[in-house]
Amino acid sequence: MIVLGIESSCDETAAALVTDRREVLADLVLSQLKDHEPFGGVVPEIAARRHIDHLDGLIARALKEAGIGFDQLDGVAATAGPGLIGAVMVGLMTGKAIAAVCRVPLIAVNHLEGHALSARLIADIAFPYLLLLVSGGHCQLLVVEGVGQFRRLGTTIDDAAGEAFDKAAKLLGLGYPGGPAIERAAREGDARRFALPRPLHGRAGCDFSFAGLKTAVLHLVQSLPEPLSARDQADVAASFQAAVADVMTDRTINAIRLFKAAAPQGSTLVVAGGVAANTLLRERLKTLAEANGLSLLAPPLRLCTDNAAMIAWTGVERLSLGLVDGLDASPRARWPLDPTAEPAPGSGRPGRLGPKA
Ligand code: KG4
Ligand code: ZN
Repeated sequence: MIVLGIESSCDETAAALVTDRREVLADLVLSQLKDHEPFGGVVPEIAARRHIDHLDGLIARALKEAGIGFDQLDGVAATAGPGLIGAVMVGLMTGKAIAAVCRVPLIAVNHLEGHALSARLIADIAFPYLLLLVSGGHCQLLVVEGVGQFRRLGTTIDDAAGEAFDKAAKLLGLGYPGGPAIERAAREGDARRFALPRPLHGRAGCDFSFAGLKTAVLHLVQSLPEPLSARDQADVAASFQAAVADVMTDRTINAIRLFKAAAPQGSTLVVAGGVAANTLLRERLKTLAEANGLSLLAPPLRLCTDNAAMIAWTGVERLSLGLVDGLDASPRARWPLDPTAEPAPGSGRPGRLGPKA
């Protein structure tokens, strides 16, 4: 079985071809970083237009790299949300057109399910597993019970994890995207120099909050001499990164307890999303998982950040179960994995705010 995957929910245009034998025949990602950099964040209208410019060509290249034609496709999986609505529409409409012309099923994929199932593309891990999903648009702890079956244990009540990295980097003048920039600067820094808050640390539950930490970084930066020296930048970056890692570890400890109580047979903690690229976070989670009798599975970096291989793989999983969609499938700006989950306390509404909500 060969499935074409299309991803266009934010600022990456991506196309991939994946088989049901876990072979990645092609996996192309075109970053729009340069287009959005001058604005310090993703501009939705620009993102949608760039997807239109590049998607057709990227799909053609993916097929060429894989050495297959449209007639060999068994299905087309396209991200149908959540994300920037104009951007999602471009990929989904393209997917529908190809599915219609090739007369193969369309799979309208939830981008978050793509992240959640990406671990099963690299290893045959069994359900259920515990997932920490941390990216530019999401910060959630979920039990992945099966394809399309999720139980959310906690989510952020304000910013997503990657958003926190991006905002802190902006305050430090480290550029966008912030995660890699903070990690680089932090390597030279002293994480103990500044005591930054650890929001919700030690509290019950598995929710996250980063707004207070961001404000603390703002006040700290304002208190330092301008322009910031490289030393100050590095020390703030290291202190910030340590605070985030502490909070994530603490929230994940609570989630592991709930997971083990509900699913004693579960043996894996998966970390996915762009922030899972962070080395300190990976190390901390590995230690934590092992101390609790779980193994940590962190997909390789190119599968952690936005890509189409995870969308194609989700297509494979769904197609194998007969879970296909009609050509009337709608793009969705919001699409929670667990629609029954209570809104995070204090968030005032279900899910999180922002482009990926
Ligand atoms: O999953 P992703 O590519 O896009 C979304 O779906 O949002 O995640 C991008 C996010 C950005 O906020 C970026 O700053 C963050 O992941 N990120 C990192 C690192 N690499 C990327 N955060 C911390 N440490 C990193 N090394
Ligand atoms: Zn993502």
